[in-house]
Amino acid sequence: MSLDFKPNNMPFRRLGSSGLRVPLFSLGGWLTFGGSVKGDTAKEILRTAFENGINMFDVAESYADGKCETEIGRVLKELGYRRSDLIITTKLFWGTRPGPNDGGLSRKHIIEGTRECLERLQTDYVDVIFAHRPDHTVPMEEIVRAFNWVIEKGWAFYWATSEWSAYEIEEAHNVATRLGLAAPIAEQCRHNMFVRERPEKEYEPLYRKYDLGTTVFSALGQGMLTGKYNNGVPSDSRLAVEKDPQHIELRAWLESDVGKARVAKVKQLSEFAEKELGVPVSQLALAWLAIKPATSTIILGASKPEQILENLKALEVIPKLTPAVLEKIEAILENKPEARPTFGRPELQGALPRL
Ligand SMILES: NC(=O)c1ccc[n+]([C@@H]2O[C@H](COP(=O)([O-])OP(=O)(O)OC[C@H]3O[C@@H](n4cnc5c(N)ncnc54)[C@H](OP(=O)(O)O)[C@@H]3O)[C@@H](O)[C@H]2O)c1
Repeated sequence: MSLDFKPNNMPFRRLGSSGLRVPLFSLGGWLTFGGSVKGDTAKEILRTAFENGINMFDVAESYADGKCETEIGRVLKELGYRRSDLIITTKLFWGTRPGPNDGGLSRKHIIEGTRECLERLQTDYVDVIFAHRPDHTVPMEEIVRAFNWVIEKGWAFYWATSEWSAYEIEEAHNVATRLGLAAPIAEQCRHNMFVRERPEKEYEPLYRKYDLGTTVFSALGQGMLTGKYNNGVPSDSRLAVEKDPQHIELRAWLESDVGKARVAKVKQLSEFAEKELGVPVSQLALAWLAIKPATSTIILGASKPEQILENLKALEVIPKLTPAVLEKIEAILENKPEARPTFGRPELQGALPRL
């Protein structure tokens, strides 16, 4: 077993406008680590990731009520990896307790919450701290100042947002620029073959204006784009195992007309991936995201080490995505976001809108 990090054939990209180099594929702990995945399995998944070029791990204070951070912190310590070889990111918003100041983005929670994350993770700093959601009850200046303070303290190197609107990200930048403080470097957004409007259209001006990067989540549509739900819900899948409201809702949705239509699309994509490219649909779905210019890293979710190895084969699918193949995929998906209007002046295509 080697403790030295070897990137192998993992591409590394800058995280947005920052100098931080992140692996194209990272690993997240939502719903798995500290919940259904613990102990030796957790260790085996992290070791498999690290030994295959994944040195970035994404968690949040709220995942498994803090137990996700505790589990990942413990395993990383036990594995003995050098801290500078790792990129650890966490997120604040929902907290781990219900108190009025135990969540949100007040200065109090940002500072106290960060301190608690570091304790659970057994580390002196995280590389990036995310605002897990926007908080409309707190002035933007308070939020920007608090994250800047956390960075000045050395508890995080950068801050970023998750599921903020383009308007909110723009506001954070304006405040940071006016006060000479750190601005968010990236957005952690849902992006997959079925969720495209926000990452591909709403954020598009921000990619060009701020060099904003994305750390993409639910790239496989919470497992759906693996095709594992094409013929019902397998008993060892998280949709069968997890009891949180989101998964109960998702399970019911699969039985609805819209859910059935989505499964039919996945079946079409699966057939295309297997017949035309000779790969499973999961690898096609990941490669399709990897070639998007704003994608800095795709956060994989995994409950078994084999899933990581399987998903990393997406790197070999990237060269197969020729313009002709991409066109055929668009014809199946039928959901390409409309381009911004040019009002009959094609030279306006790609120009920055006045914000
Ligand atoms: N910022 C946010 O608001 C936010 C929200 C959601 C997620 N995230 C982050 O993004 C990470 C990933 O999100 P996600 O879990 O929704 O991602 P996902 O990739 O859409 O789904 C992951 C699930 O897909 C299944 N899977 C993965 N590879 C597979 C394979 N090769 N074969 C069969 N099944 C496979 C596994 O399900 P089973 O467990 O059933 O095996 C796995 O748990 C999270 O851990 C978290 O760090 C952030």
